[in-house]
This record gives sequence, structure tokens and C-alpha cells, in this order.
Amino acid sequence: MITSGSQHAIDLLVRSTVGPGQVTAMEEPGYPRVRRVFIQSGATLAPIPVDADGLCVDLLPAGRRAPVLVYVTPSHQFPLGSRLSIARRLALLEWAANTGSLVVEDDYDSEFRYGAPPLPALAALDPGDSVAYVGSFSKILSPALRIGYLVAPASTRERIREIRSLSDWHSSWPLQRALAVFIDSGAFDTYIRRMRRLYGLKRAALARLLDEAPEVGTLRGIDAGLHAFWELAPGISASETAAMAAEQGVRVSTAQEFYAGVPVVSGVGMGYGAIDHARLKYAAETLIAAARRQR
Ligand SMILES: Cc1ncc(COP(=O)(O)O)c(C=O)c1O
Repeated sequence: MITSGSQHAIDLLVRSTVGPGQVTAMEEPGYPRVRRVFIQSGATLAPIPVDADGLCVDLLPAGRRAPVLVYVTPSHQFPLGSRLSIARRLALLEWAANTGSLVVEDDYDSEFRYGAPPLPALAALDPGDSVAYVGSFSKILSPALRIGYLVAPASTRERIREIRSLSDWHSSWPLQRALAVFIDSGAFDTYIRRMRRLYGLKRAALARLLDEAPEVGTLRGIDAGLHAFWELAPGISASETAAMAAEQGVRVSTAQEFYAGVPVVSGVGMGYGAIDHARLKYAAETLIAAARRQR
């Protein structure tokens, strides 16, 4: 189904499969806009920790306490930037086959990998009917387009169609048509290749700049996507760093904004997709100065 972005797809999935009081799980830290969808549905939230290999699948409750739905960002964990290892992908699918839970795979930026080859999507590895795959054109083209897609398990489709038909029927047809022509012409592939190179150069420049200050922070995650997470050294406050940077015109998010519970990792997240090299340099230098002032 073509949707108005991944947010819309996830809302449709939750509304069609989750009832009040049922348990839904997601990465901790994780994407706050999905957490808010869960809360609004009346579900009970189970935050599952994330490490350098992505979601800690072995911490997912099984048996009667198993969540009905688990939300993951396997190709580029949001916000820490790790990716789900192959072993954990297989373990997650096995867990879902045993519990009957639905795995929601939010593949929001997998077109942008600068080093490592991509791993197969959960939806591609799933031998059964456990994964709902969610994609978006927000990172590839623009979030202003409001267009994305949902490949839902067959067992959920009828209910999703019914719910959708009662809200907005369908996404703008002329927009879908324009996008289809753009894709079919080959121009879309050319555009992705060009942007991958440009974003890769920005990511490398940001990494070089931040690596100048290993005593205050470390860039986490794989070389991918349009956002980076800078983990701060013990004793350096993310909120102070963000506040000082904001005074200099540099806006970043803090790790605590992505936690439902007590934050474990301290650091700041930043989007660099729309920033030119001069401003990227200024932002990195401003952040380093703000962190160093706290030592
Ligand atoms: C984790 C995650 N998923 C999805 C999206 C894209 O959402 P949408 O397609 O609704 O614009 C974003 C955008 O920031 C995101 O951070």
C-alpha cells in the first residue's frame, strides 16, 4: 500500500493489530514518534535495549508476556546508528514465528550506505508472514512529499484496507504517477547514486571533524544515513552541550529525548543531510567547544 510516509504506515499497522492494554515493544532508545503512536493506542510499552548489534533480541519477552508487535530500525538504528546483525535478524524472525508477534521493519534510509554492503531486510529473510516492511521517500527525496509504502503480511491487509478507506482513501494519485515516471525513467537511480556520494562525503567530513576530539566524544554507528550520533564521554552533559550549541545557532537533539526510561547512553544526535560543508565544520567545532568547556 502506498501511504503518506512511514508514520502513516506505522499508525495503520498499530490501529489494525494492537488493542488497548496489549504489549508493544520497541528499541530503547528509539524513535519517539512511533512511541507516541503506541501510547495513543492504549498499548503497554516494552522498551528493549539496543547495543552495537542493534536490538537485544534475547531480551524480548516470550510466552504469554510476548508483545503483539515489535518495532525495529534494523538497517540503521534510530538514533544510535548501529545495524541489526544477521544472527539477531534470524533470532528475531525465529522469536516472531514462535510468538506469532508482528515485526514492523522501518527501513527509512537504507538507500544511503557509504561503506559496508547492505544486509538483507528482515522482510526478505522471513520465511513466514511475520514482518511488515515500511519504506519512505522522506529521506531519499523529501519529507514534504509525504509518500511512503507498506508491505503488510497477508493476514493484516483486509483490516488495514478497511481502516485506511475510512480516513483518506488513498495517497494522491498524480503524485504517485509522477514518482512512478521518475523511477521508470532511470533518473531516480541516478539521483540516489549522486546523493549517496554527496552524503557520504558529508558523513566522512563530519567524522573527521569530530574525531579531532576523542577525549570528549565518539561518533557511533555505521557509515550510513543522514544523521549521526555523537556519544559524549562520562561527565559531559548532553543537555548542556546542546544548550550551549543552540546559543551559537547549532541545533542538535539529546539522547534522553529518545528514551522512554532512564537514559543509558549520553550524547547528541544531528542531521547533516541539508547542511553544506562550511556549516558542518562550524557545527562540529561549536559542539566540540561546548563539550570541552565542561571538562
Ligand atoms: C526512524 C524514522 N523512521 C521514519 C522516518 C520518516 O518518516 P516519514 O516517512 O513519515 O516522513 C524518520 C524521519 O525522520 C525516522 O527518523
